[in-house]
Amino acid sequence: MKLRTFSIIKPDAVAAGHAGAILSMLEEVGFKILALRMTRLTQSQAEGFYAVHRERPFFPSLVKFMTEGPLIVMALEREDAVAKLREVMGATNPANAAEGTVRKRLAQSIERNCIHGSDAPETAEVELRYFFSTLDLQG
Ligand code: CMP
Repeated sequence: MKLRTFSIIKPDAVAAGHAGAILSMLEEVGFKILALRMTRLTQSQAEGFYAVHRERPFFPSLVKFMTEGPLIVMALEREDAVAKLREVMGATNPANAAEGTVRKRLAQSIERNCIHGSDAPETAEVELRYFFSTLDLQG
């Protein structure tokens, strides 16, 4: 069954001109773009999105990074969407990411790692709702 997941092309990748390359990589492995929008996060929006990481030492830096410039939020659809997206993204730390993944090819560091993808179907639904309406998600 086709399922959907949520992804962000992060500010580092947008600023570096990698948005098109990342979209191509996602389409090449069969993702359908259901919804897509360029936006900027306020500090409180970034804090809310990453609330699960609030106690982590990197949280203030992560919020600063995610608010530094425009980013692209996306709803993506595919068989096994959550796991497949995480496979294409590669490991959080690009130093550990497999060859051919987005992060191996394009990311600079464990923080400035180009792309976000939901970690589970339940998380995907919550994250999609953070940015998109039912109408947006019709595809
Ligand atoms: P993401 O998949 O969006 O989920 C949380 C984000 O926090 C992660 O990608 C990175 O951008 C960032 N992050 C995770 N671990 C670290 C770390 N050890 N140091 C700095 N940033 C991190």
